[in-house]
Amino acid sequence: MSGCPFFAKTHQFPTSPSEENDDAQKDTDKSSKGEIFYGEYLQLDKIITAQKLQSELKGNKIHDEHLFIVTHQSYELWFKQVMWELDSVRELFIHNHVRDERNMLKVVSRIHRITMIFKLLVDQFAVLETMTALDFFDFREYLSSASGFQSLQFRLLENKFGVSEKLRVPYNRRHYRDKFQGQESESLVQTEQEPTLLQLVEKWLERTPGLEKDGFDFWGKLQANIAEGYRMEKQTLEKMANCEKKQDLLEDLTKQMEVFTYLFDSKHHEHLLSKGDRRLSYRALQGALMIYFYREEPRFQVPFQLLTYLMEVDTLMTKWRYNHVCMVHRMIGNKAGTGGSSGYHYLRSTVSDRYKVFVDLFNLATYLVPRAWVPKLNPTVYKFQYIAECNDSSYSSSGSCSSEED
Ligand code: HEM
Repeated sequence: MSGCPFFAKTHQFPTSPSEENDDAQKDTDKSSKGEIFYGEYLQLDKIITAQKLQSELKGNKIHDEHLFIVTHQSYELWFKQVMWELDSVRELFIHNHVRDERNMLKVVSRIHRITMIFKLLVDQFAVLETMTALDFFDFREYLSSASGFQSLQFRLLENKFGVSEKLRVPYNRRHYRDKFQGQESESLVQTEQEPTLLQLVEKWLERTPGLEKDGFDFWGKLQANIAEGYRMEKQTLEKMANCEKKQDLLEDLTKQMEVFTYLFDSKHHEHLLSKGDRRLSYRALQGALMIYFYREEPRFQVPFQLLTYLMEVDTLMTKWRYNHVCMVHRMIGNKAGTGGSSGYHYLRSTVSDRYKVFVDLFNLATYLVPRAWVPKLNPTVYKFQYIAECNDSSYSSSGSCSSEED
């Protein structure tokens, strides 16, 4: 049966409150056996005593400063957890464990976890917003030059995702790293040099099976199908009787065709890359579009999920920036920030595509075409076997798979 004590007693519920109490007291006190305590395990002595109100230290205790501190601390703890997940995912990519596609589920579930944390972080501002601007004003002076701008973890997190150094908005024409010194500055430089999640996903997308020119040649076939599709549509339109509507439809069609002319022009892609308007390599973009079109194929279902969650992370980080800037506007209006930026105006400029790491995935929807134009897969010819199936003898025999612990 279950582990429920009531079931063990075949539904004989205690007759008196004292009997119930006796049962409730039965367990042995494990602390006497030297096992670890809750508070010790969680090091609560450090966390619970880490709220030092500057207002109180200066002899003018302001009630809401406690909330301000606890809110920031909980954000920082969650940032730490996000990085923990992010680093583990990057490790899986760096050590090529994703070649064994069974590990992709781990990658996807951890990125999904990051999205759930960010959902919480986006909503958490509402708690701090129970503080009024006047309440904040009462203790703001005690913050002196302390600012979220100096949050090392936030910057590390952005860098690890792949926020581009070149695309960052400068504050007072200064580099974002100027706010950090010594070890902190070094760790930021390190994250700028390490492979970012964006770069790792890019390399993975470039290997999408089906892109090979001497194989399925997805890109070549797609280009031919789209050209043929538009040729037929144009032919149909040209048969229409001359009228204003026909002219409009033909103009529309020309515009749509132009979008695809640019898509199939690798030089145009390089140009957009150099401006920062695209972030993925040309081949990776092709892989992503292929995953979009064939998302129902078993081989592409998990990759499609990953691309969806990556966009979700970007969306939530943008929402985080947006909620933060709205709160800042409400709290300090147009005043400069304690960290030295213009405050609201600086923060507003960060709510932009410049900070979207996987912006190319969002733009893919521009290139969706009728299902009939998508090159047909012939399952007997193109099986898109799992790489583990092809390369890893453990796939069918021992059943052990390469993991991050290997
Ligand atoms: C009353 C509440 C808050 C106010 C008035 C406020 C104000 C500001 C301002 C003015 C800036 C721009 C930099 C500067 O010049 O100081 C900033 C940046 C920042 N704040 Fe806040 N903030 C608040 C709450 C929070 C909270 C709860 C977090 C959570 C960790 C946070 C994290 C950050 C981060 C990470 C930045 C850097 C953003 C960037 O440069 O893109 N802030 N904040």
